[in-house]
Amino acid sequence: MNEQVLSLRLQVVADQLPAGANFADIGSDHAYLPCYVCLNDSDAKAIAGEVNEGPYQSALREVKEHNLEGRISVRKGDGLSVVKPGEAEQVVIAGMGGTLIAEILEKGIEVLDYTDRVIAQPNVDAKSVRKWLIANGFQITGEKIVEEGGHIYEIVIADRSEGYHNDTFSERELYFGPFLLKEKSDIFRKKWEEENQKLKYVFSQMRKASKPDNQKLDRIQKEIKWIEEVLENG
Ligand SMILES: C[S@@+](CC[C@H](N)C(=O)[O-])C[C@H]1O[C@@H](n2cnc3c(N)ncnc32)[C@H](O)[C@@H]1O
Repeated sequence: MNEQVLSLRLQVVADQLPAGANFADIGSDHAYLPCYVCLNDSDAKAIAGEVNEGPYQSALREVKEHNLEGRISVRKGDGLSVVKPGEAEQVVIAGMGGTLIAEILEKGIEVLDYTDRVIAQPNVDAKSVRKWLIANGFQITGEKIVEEGGHIYEIVIADRSEGYHNDTFSERELYFGPFLLKEKSDIFRKKWEEENQKLKYVFSQMRKASKPDNQKLDRIQKEIKWIEEVLENG
């Protein structure tokens, strides 16, 4: 993968940006996503944010190599602290856990006041991201699920909602993703079949503990029940 040929996962993320995007990619690593977007759209511009020195240097190198310094600003810092309110109309946070993504969104709430769209690709725990978005003035407007290199990735697209709030989702819908649950694609089924096996294993191991965590066991049991219901029903 590089900035000219993106991984399928990042390609699907890139596809959620509008033409002429003005976005921040937080946790940009090599800045492949902003470079790809700017190389393919002469009106696009981006901020590539990175907290770690190694990936920050990689991002600087990549941007320089493509002479994109005028359109991609590479900044070092934690989460959305590198973006000033009003600087980015879209925010991408991809390739991290859902809890970390939700934390970054929470800390960057002032920047998000000026953001129309958030595109999040949590590697695990997408529910935390959906919950945060809905509780903070965003409406989930789309979801994607892709399989690549033996992994299955979920992408959540949320737009700032002025009037209508679709915050009536059940815990179950937030767990599976309201759009993904409706669609129930083959990849979605595969993901939850795998997750079911994992949860059953964890459940059996946890039950053997000398002092089982009953609260956690109940939660896992509830999730297994949800998954089996979803897989059974069409
Ligand atoms: C697994 S990489 C994902 C890179 C790229 N976004 C992608 O999806 O391919 C996660 C990146 O996020 C960076 N990161 C982690 N926590 C961060 C934070 N709080 N602020 C900015 N960057 C962060 C890491 O240094 C790492 O480069």
